[in-house]
Amino acid sequence: MAQLFDVVVIGAGPGGYIAAIRAAQLGFQVACIDEWTNAAGGPAPGGTCTNVGCIPSKALLQSSEHYEHAAHHFADHGIGVKGLTMDVAAMIGRKDAVVKQNNDGILYLFKKNKVTFFHGRGSFVGTVDNGFEVAVSGKQNETLKTRHVIVATGSSARPLPQVPFDEVNVLSNDGALRVGAVPKRLGVIGSGVIGLEMGSVWRRLGAEVTVLEGLPTFLGAVDQQIAKEAHKAFTKQGLQIELGVKVGEIKNTKKGVTIAYDDAKGAAQTLAVDKLIVSIGRVPNTQGLNAEAVGLKLDERGAIVVDDNCRASVAGIWAVGDVVRGPMLAHKAEEEGVAVAERIAGQHGHVDFNLIPWVIYTSPEIAWVGKTEQQLKADGVAFKAGTFPFLANGRARALGDTTGMVKMLADATTDEILGVHVVGPMASELIAEACVAMAFKASSEDIARICHAHPSLSESTKEAALAVDKRTLNF
Ligand code: FAD
Ligand code: NAI
Repeated sequence: MAQLFDVVVIGAGPGGYIAAIRAAQLGFQVACIDEWTNAAGGPAPGGTCTNVGCIPSKALLQSSEHYEHAAHHFADHGIGVKGLTMDVAAMIGRKDAVVKQNNDGILYLFKKNKVTFFHGRGSFVGTVDNGFEVAVSGKQNETLKTRHVIVATGSSARPLPQVPFDEVNVLSNDGALRVGAVPKRLGVIGSGVIGLEMGSVWRRLGAEVTVLEGLPTFLGAVDQQIAKEAHKAFTKQGLQIELGVKVGEIKNTKKGVTIAYDDAKGAAQTLAVDKLIVSIGRVPNTQGLNAEAVGLKLDERGAIVVDDNCRASVAGIWAVGDVVRGPMLAHKAEEEGVAVAERIAGQHGHVDFNLIPWVIYTSPEIAWVGKTEQQLKADGVAFKAGTFPFLANGRARALGDTTGMVKMLADATTDEILGVHVVGPMASELIAEACVAMAFKASSEDIARICHAHPSLSESTKEAALAVDKRTLNF
């Protein structure tokens, strides 16, 4: 006999598990189904983000940054290190432990909020009176009956048509996060977010890293002044980035991977590497959902078609996160999950898509919210720009990390902040002030008049705001 719920969530990534918790908080009987399985065969909720995405990548970025500091920067502080070693297995073990803490944390949160968790694959059986039947198959086999379904099945790495992932030599994000030893030569196809983050990890640990990017522009979606600064820093660190290439045949043999490509001038080149990370974007996970059973509309990429409020083509079915349009970011998925649960409860859930911050966790970090200079120019919006370099910030000097700048863009007439862009230390944390300011429709003058702690990196945001009015105090 089918178990009855008000809301069934398929997928326990950041979109799904947060939607399930919010729906339970609002008084619904909620089930959440997820098929991710850990090495011991148990459930591993948290999705891509927790298992092979945000969390493990940041764990490895942190470990590799410590190593780089010990190898190259401790000496500046008078700290001598002899016999520095890198135990890759221990680093991967620590990363796995961090992942497990997060998996366990989500299972605890489900219990705390009375969300019933099912470990297995969720798929639509069909429409029943005033709702839907959803099957759980795998570790548990059940049939659930519900009024509302939230699909939050996420995305998977897109392979190159030339070569499948074997996760030994040709790696997706999954394999890139569990390489057993530092490769001598690492190739990366795609200089997007994953390519730069994972390329940075293995470069810091000693790999020779070459990144092949199809587009002629580096980080085209990033404000180009910021992207240029980042490119300069990455190149100085030894990351070799080739733009405007056309990747051809790829041979994967026991000895490694050979990539034939045409460089930006059209000359034929070959790159031989020990491991290759392919990071050319991700595809929505809709196979296995049996979406046809309820007539759910998918677009040409296989993403679930939704309106601005995450309503799918069938009333009662909603979809959030990577499986729908929009940026593939954990916090975007979470915001949509909360908003959908609130809409099901008759409330006015809201996501402001203009205020979703982006962060690339390289060193220097890159973070931004709102419009770039090139977008404002393309839209014909008159704006004022202010920049402040970390070179002139006392805390950055004390940290020993003065790369980069904060850049603020404000409306030329009203002074409302339209975009904030940071390349530099702790950009991921600095961007939060900009998000809050922009959510409250602050002007650059508002930020310039707010007292910021000294010495702090955040003073650079205040100085960038002062720079909008051409009156920096420290530069
Ligand atoms: P997912 O996290 O993909 O979760 C979907 C879940 O649904 C999975 O557990 C899957 O097993 C399950 N599932 C799928 N189909 C079924 C089914 N039929 N039945 C049952 N379960 C099913 N974003 C950031 O914001 N910050 C970062 O720093 C960041 N770093 C990243 C690093 C890497 C290497 C990668 C790959 C991604 C990163 N992202 C980051 C992106 C982020 O991981 C995704 O945007 C986010 O996980 C999307 O959440 P989601 O809930 O939509 O889907
Ligand atoms: P991406 O979209 O960020 O970058 C892919 C890059 O590959 C692009 O620059 C594209 O031009 C290039 N490319 C595509 N096809 C190519 C080809 N055939 N040859 C050469 N270059 C090619 O995708 P990525 O890095 O795979 O990451 C996927 C998504 O995961 C990101 O867009 C982001 O949403 C999310 N993510 C977020 C992170 C964060 O927030 N810090 C970290 C990692 C991933």
